Amino acid sequence: MKDKHKVEQEFLKQLESLKKHNKFYFSEDSPKISDHEYDNLKKNLKELETKYPFLKKINSVENIVGAKPTNKFEKIKHLTPMLSLSNSFDINDINDFHKKIYNFLSLKNQKIELFCEPKIDGISATLIYEKGILKKGLSRGDGHTGENILENLKTISSIPRRIEFKNLPDLLEIRCEIYLGKKDFYKLKDKFANPRNAAGGSLRQKNSSETSKIPLKYFAYGFGMIKPMVFSRQSEFLKKINELGFSTNPLSEKIEGADNIQRYHKKIDNLRSSLEYDIDGIVLKVNDINLQKRLGNTSNSPRWATAYKFSAEKAITRIEKIVIQVGRTGAITPVAKVEPVTVGGVVVSNATLHNEDEILRKDIRLGDTIQIQRAGDVIPQVVTVDTDKRDKKSKKFIFPKKCLCGALTIKEKNKTTKKEDAVRRCTRGYDCKYIAKEKLKHIVSKDAFNIDGLGKKVIDQFWELNLIKEPSDIFKLDFKKIENLDGWGEVSINNLKKAITKSRNINLDKFIFSIGIRHIGQENAKILASFFGSINEFVKLSNSKTRKRILNNLVDLDGIGETQISSINNFFLNKSNIKITNDLVQSLDIKNFSVNFKNGKFSNKRLMFTGGFQNISRSEAKAIVEKNGGKVLGTISKKLDFLVVGDSKPTKKKIDQAKELNIKIILEKDWNKILNS
Ligand code: IVH
Repeated sequence: MKDKHKVEQEFLKQLESLKKHNKFYFSEDSPKISDHEYDNLKKNLKELETKYPFLKKINSVENIVGAKPTNKFEKIKHLTPMLSLSNSFDINDINDFHKKIYNFLSLKNQKIELFCEPKIDGISATLIYEKGILKKGLSRGDGHTGENILENLKTISSIPRRIEFKNLPDLLEIRCEIYLGKKDFYKLKDKFANPRNAAGGSLRQKNSSETSKIPLKYFAYGFGMIKPMVFSRQSEFLKKINELGFSTNPLSEKIEGADNIQRYHKKIDNLRSSLEYDIDGIVLKVNDINLQKRLGNTSNSPRWATAYKFSAEKAITRIEKIVIQVGRTGAITPVAKVEPVTVGGVVVSNATLHNEDEILRKDIRLGDTIQIQRAGDVIPQVVTVDTDKRDKKSKKFIFPKKCLCGALTIKEKNKTTKKEDAVRRCTRGYDCKYIAKEKLKHIVSKDAFNIDGLGKKVIDQFWELNLIKEPSDIFKLDFKKIENLDGWGEVSINNLKKAITKSRNINLDKFIFSIGIRHIGQENAKILASFFGSINEFVKLSNSKTRKRILNNLVDLDGIGETQISSINNFFLNKSNIKITNDLVQSLDIKNFSVNFKNGKFSNKRLMFTGGFQNISRSEAKAIVEKNGGKVLGTISKKLDFLVVGDSKPTKKKIDQAKELNIKIILEKDWNKILNS
């Protein structure tokens, strides 16, 4: 036998590594090694145990992890998407949230009742009851498609299997947050980084008997689809389901006005450490379900709710180094490399310094002792600098004027405010290799091409190996070379091939979002896609002769302003952008923007607005048309069916153009009649 001590040391080293990687694995999809390497690590440990049985007395691999979480659950499409919440951090954000609601609903002085709840820091799931019987239990997944984790959810005995009440809807979908209590987590703290990861890991076990070993709990906080709808308020809904046996949070309250929101936020924050479950803020919801419906959603989150986060956890550390990072839009962000410190249970070794102005304002220097804070998933930031602890010889930090690629950076002027931007930028686009790499990471990300298996780490690796240098390379990958790389096996390669093939079919709006034009987010990409209709029209922007004319037409598009137009122009002024975009187009099958005409009073109709209305905002009018199967266009053309003219300051030019093209004009009073019909 080898030296017993050496065997033991090797075993403990590998066991520690397994524990560490379990944490990464369970930390919501942030594994640092491939599945293959993970399996090997576990296999090695097991082999050591079999060969040297005395090791089992020290600790067993089985004690470290029950079973590896799986991604092999059946995928099921959600009945209605499981969205995220917008975040608010202070009273200004709350006032903004209120303002947007009032503007959208075109309200003036009416009071809006909010329902406020603690925001549970767990894992979301949805429970579907058909005629009172629990039929499906799904994880959130990507928000549109979840995984069937019903058997695992059934291990939570407090989730009702069957419900009965007088007006029970045929279909009742309950949204809830699954969590592990703090005391229960304490017993498992060697296996997981925090209670949330423990709950996530437990729910992802293939074998529900593994899940049942962990005493998960839940709070029901909302609903998905309910047919027929029998509730009119969030408060009423929660009260009713609580009577039916669902666990709901007892700290929820009806609230009105900003002062009371502040008071509630403070009250719950004060209770935070004494609660048996982790919370990371409060959630404010418009209580009236009809108003919720009217407000609807943006791409990712409802307009009728926001998460008001608690202030961030803080820690003291020291700046060891200041480096710069280059983002996909060329923004140069200074980052402090700090002595590793634990903030809210997570080891932090980087903190963002935002930009040059921020460094100047706070006079942040190398070697400084600083207080940092970390709020939720946001990158840790510097709060204060302790100048008393500063070395007398320390010098002001001189912000580099050059990008990592060597090119000079610039500060742009805001077209409207005429002020200089705080952010320095490298303007070389794809010609800067640092920007190019970040653009690739954006292209493969969830909201863009959504290529599973091509995460940020893999892009870094493939970039270094010259496998991917620009987007079209993704579709010409040399899998022979990948086969020989560590951590890549038959299964992972096949999965990657499948994911890439699937991503070739992309909708025009996603494509426009993916190519990463600055200021063109998901919403703007949709507006542009509806304007261009097809990729052939969109690529006409590459031609300097046609571009000018097209950009002039964009001026009339609702939602697209001067900033966006100038950004599109800049994007297509760059030759590399044009070449790279065109090469990418050749590899893809880009679907024309199709208006998904639903059934409704505007089915198959294209409308346009001019002027403001007395009772509803332009945004709500647009949302109503879309909900009722119609489409709102931004420019007058023969395609238009109606021009709806609001009483407040309509544009005469648009009315004249509509008349010329024989487009039917609807005046505000008739519009109101249609809405009420
Ligand atoms: S309401 C967007 N209420 O937070 C859909 N969510 O960041 C409305 N969460 O996915 C969500 N406690 O998993 C709502 N009281 C609460 C919540 C809550 C925790 C989670 C939920 C959601 C996530 C959004």
